[in-house]
This record gives sequence, structure tokens and C-alpha cells, in this order.
Amino acid sequence: MFNKTCVVSAPGKVILHGEHAVVHGKVAVAVALNLRTFLRMTLRNDGKISIDLPNIRTKLCWETSELEPLLVAFPADQIDSQPPSPEQVEKLKEFSGVADGAAAATRSQATVAFLYLYLSIASKCGVLPSMDILVWSELPTGAGLGSSAAYSVCLAGALLSGCGVIGYPLGEGQSVARWTEVELGLINRWAFRGEQVIHGNPSGVDNAVGTWGGALRYQSGKISSLKRVPTLRILLTNTKVPRSTKILVAGVKDKLLKFPAIMEPVLTSIDAISQECEGVLEAMAEHSSGEHYAMLEELIDINQHHLDAIGVGHSSLDRVCLITASHGLHSKLTGAGGGGCAITLLRPDVAPSTVEAAIRDLEDCGFACWETDIGALGVCAHSPPSLKAEVLKAFSGI
Ligand code: MEV
Repeated sequence: MFNKTCVVSAPGKVILHGEHAVVHGKVAVAVALNLRTFLRMTLRNDGKISIDLPNIRTKLCWETSELEPLLVAFPADQIDSQPPSPEQVEKLKEFSGVADGAAAATRSQATVAFLYLYLSIASKCGVLPSMDILVWSELPTGAGLGSSAAYSVCLAGALLSGCGVIGYPLGEGQSVARWTEVELGLINRWAFRGEQVIHGNPSGVDNAVGTWGGALRYQSGKISSLKRVPTLRILLTNTKVPRSTKILVAGVKDKLLKFPAIMEPVLTSIDAISQECEGVLEAMAEHSSGEHYAMLEELIDINQHHLDAIGVGHSSLDRVCLITASHGLHSKLTGAGGGGCAITLLRPDVAPSTVEAAIRDLEDCGFACWETDIGALGVCAHSPPSLKAEVLKAFSGI
């Protein structure tokens, strides 16, 4: 258990291949990004509970006594294998009072997910702990980079530790520490419940990457870490076109129900792309060659067309593909599509001037770009003084 304050962070993710198909039991290959969400929890003893989410301009405070009546819907024997019930979610929506219109949807979902995890986990320790929670993120929201999953993972880690359900891993003098495999499993399961509150029917791949980090193969709830992964450089482009993962996932499901004989083979082909990519990555970890990069580029191109075919493309994503292709680079959407983000593979020998020119052209369209590596650490606890200046600044409200 920590003394009074704990700081937890979790990474965002990009899906290399398998988005959407993974919802229907196919393989996805996902990797942790070097962009993270940070949560600071400070215990207090005056019966108040507050949550501050500066990225989405949300700040709420309650008396724990106001939350007590809600506990009837959160029995102490509620287990992490039980999905959130529509009644629980409805009750919390009503209680939070955050309007559920288009602009307020993210704020409402984030608040309801917090209340759901807080009440579910706190019901196990018999008291509603009084605390301040502040969450700040380097990840843009609604861009397919797993920002909601990183949020749910941070909440699950901090609340489970704060309520004494699991230990707190950070020892004296350590700057960063991770939980045990068993504890990570519990964090991941509760984070998945938070994701269900936010997204309805997610596959669980985003919270798994947020929890374990590195590179993962994910299929039907079965997660395995890729043992050997080459360092891949990626250019990440945020088209800034907002969209809803929930609506896009539902759209693919509708198409699949309407045209099963047409859509099922496309999903099967995406599954084969993920598996082929896995094989290429493993081979590259031994010794990477131009031929390997050429294969990865071809897989990217084929999958981008498949994702268009299942209805999750967008003109902004077409633009990213066209612009990067004009510089000899290959791109695909990552995450839910319909806008959001794209990834572009950068070969090790690509000239810096080529990358700079591509970024300039993309930024001229109003897109935001980051050059990054894949394979960051999963959820971890930090000692506050070891945090980088940007996070400390956000935590001090500057
Ligand atoms: C979203 O990042 C990825 C999707 O496959 C949805 C999911 O897996 O939950 C579109």
C-alpha cells in the first residue's frame, strides 16, 4: 500500500493489423506506443471524492455519502468476469448528470467508467475511500490510440492498489515498478470492464496492450506477448477527424450480418495478414532485410484496402495514404478508422529529408504527426519526483 499519493501510467497502442476483425474472433497484432496516460491518486480523509480530467475539461466532486445509495447495485461479491449491466450503467449515467449529447459523450463515458470501477472495487473493501484523482494524457482522445483503455488501465491499477485488493509495487528508492503477472491479470480484467462501459463491446486488445505493453498477439481474449520484436520506426498521423469506435464496430457487425458470404472472407484475409505479419516480425528480430520491409509494406497496403471494404475508411485516411505514397511510404489506418489515426512504416534507411517532406505535406492538410518507436512498457507505478517535467506541470495544473 502506498502512503498517501500514488502515480500510475499506461501506454496507448497501435494495432499493426487485425482491427475490427479481432472483434469477430480473428487475430490482431498490437504494440504499445511511447505516448502514455498518467494518473495521480491522493487519499484524503474528509469524505470527499473528486475526479479531474483536464484533457476533456471535466472536474467533478462528490461526498462519498452521496455515492453510498448506489452501492446496492454493486454487491461486494460482484466479480471481474461479470460485464457491467445496462441497469448499473444507466444508474451511473443518471447520477453523474453529465449530458449524453455528442460533445459531452466522452465526458459522460469517462465519468461513468470511473464511477463503475470505483464502486465495483470499493464495494470489496467495505468503505468508500475518500480521494482525489487526476488523469492527464499525452494521447489524443478518440483517435484510435487506446486512450480510453489507458485511462481504464490506470484507474484499475490505482483503485485496486488504493483499496488494498492488490499490492503497490513501488519500493523505497525505486522510480518505476510493475505489478506481478497475477496482479496485472486482475488489472487487465477490471480495465476491460471500464472499456465495456465506454465502448459497449470491445475486443479487449487495447486494455491488454495498456496492461502488458510490448507487442501482443490477441485472439478471442487469448493474449500472448511476441517474444522477439524488431525495433520498428513508425510515423503516426492523427487526421483529427472525430469518430466513435462504438458506431464503427456496430457498422461492421451490421455489414457482416447483411452480407456474410462477402464480409467473412475479408475478415479471414485480415486474419491471415496478422499471422503473416507476426511471422515476418519474428524473422526480422533475427535478421531484418529489405525483403522483410517490402513484405510489411505490402501487407499494410492490402489491409488498408480491406478496411475500406468493411466500411471503416475515410477520405482523410485516403489522403494520408496518397501523400505518404508520393514519398515512397506505405500507410494504413490504425484502430477504429473512420478518421482517427494512420501508421506509416519507416524503413531504417529512409532519408530524414523524405520523412520531413512527408510530415510537412501531412501537416499542411491539418494533420498532426509523431515519429515514434513501438514496444513501450505496460502499466507501471512511478515515484512522483521521477516524472518528466511535462507530467509534473500537468499535475500541478499549470
Ligand atoms: C479499436 O482500437 C480496435 C477495434 O478493433 C475495436 C476493438 O478491438 O475493441 C476497432
